Amino acid sequence: MSIPIRICPSILSCDPANFADPVIAMEAGGVDWIHLDVMDGQFVPPITFGAGLAASLKDKVETPLEAHLMTLTPDAHFDAFIDAGCTRIIFHAEATSHAHRLCQSLRRRGIEAGIAINPGTSVEVIRPLLNLLDLVLVMTVNPGWGGQEFIPECLDKVRAVRAMSPTVAIQVDGGVDPKTIRPLAEAGATDFVVGSYLMRASSSADGIKELRSACG
Ligand code: DX5
Ligand code: ZN
Repeated sequence: MSIPIRICPSILSCDPANFADPVIAMEAGGVDWIHLDVMDGQFVPPITFGAGLAASLKDKVETPLEAHLMTLTPDAHFDAFIDAGCTRIIFHAEATSHAHRLCQSLRRRGIEAGIAINPGTSVEVIRPLLNLLDLVLVMTVNPGWGGQEFIPECLDKVRAVRAMSPTVAIQVDGGVDPKTIRPLAEAGATDFVVGSYLMRASSSADGIKELRSACG
């Protein structure tokens, strides 16, 4: 049986001197979101890029942009990424005591609200927020770097979130490839962030096709 999935390529493994060309190629390959990994050097050690990049990419593609904020102060960056044209913002549960208020503030502005949980964080933090969430991001590696190995224990977390809500979008991020995507989809994941696998594929279009066909 084929499982409907959304592919959300991350640009983290691209050459930072040229983000535009791979993003244009990803769009041509048929993707659902462009996933921007924003790291502040504090929540996670590396620093990547800011809202200026989102604004520049917004002019080049029609695919919606989402910001995955790996930052200690998520709401300090909401305005900049919304103004840059991101229509989904995902922040980390571990970075705030006020996840409920932050989701409310995104929803009020017509932005899809997503919360990410690290591999070491219990899915229970999600339960009181479900009515306010468009998406739950279950990290399948520890955040900060592309190219890490998928952590298989995270499959149970995906199942647990799906058991809490039959409808919420469940995104997975880290180590997604044609081998891991099928069990993740069967566990209930709907949105797949893919970084280094697409860079290894012969082309974005081929890689995206492989991922979709792995799900039937
Ligand atoms: C990790 C990032 C991911 C990363 C995934 O902190 O959030 O989006 O780019 O990369 P791969 O697919 O290489 O694991
Ligand atoms: Zn990410």
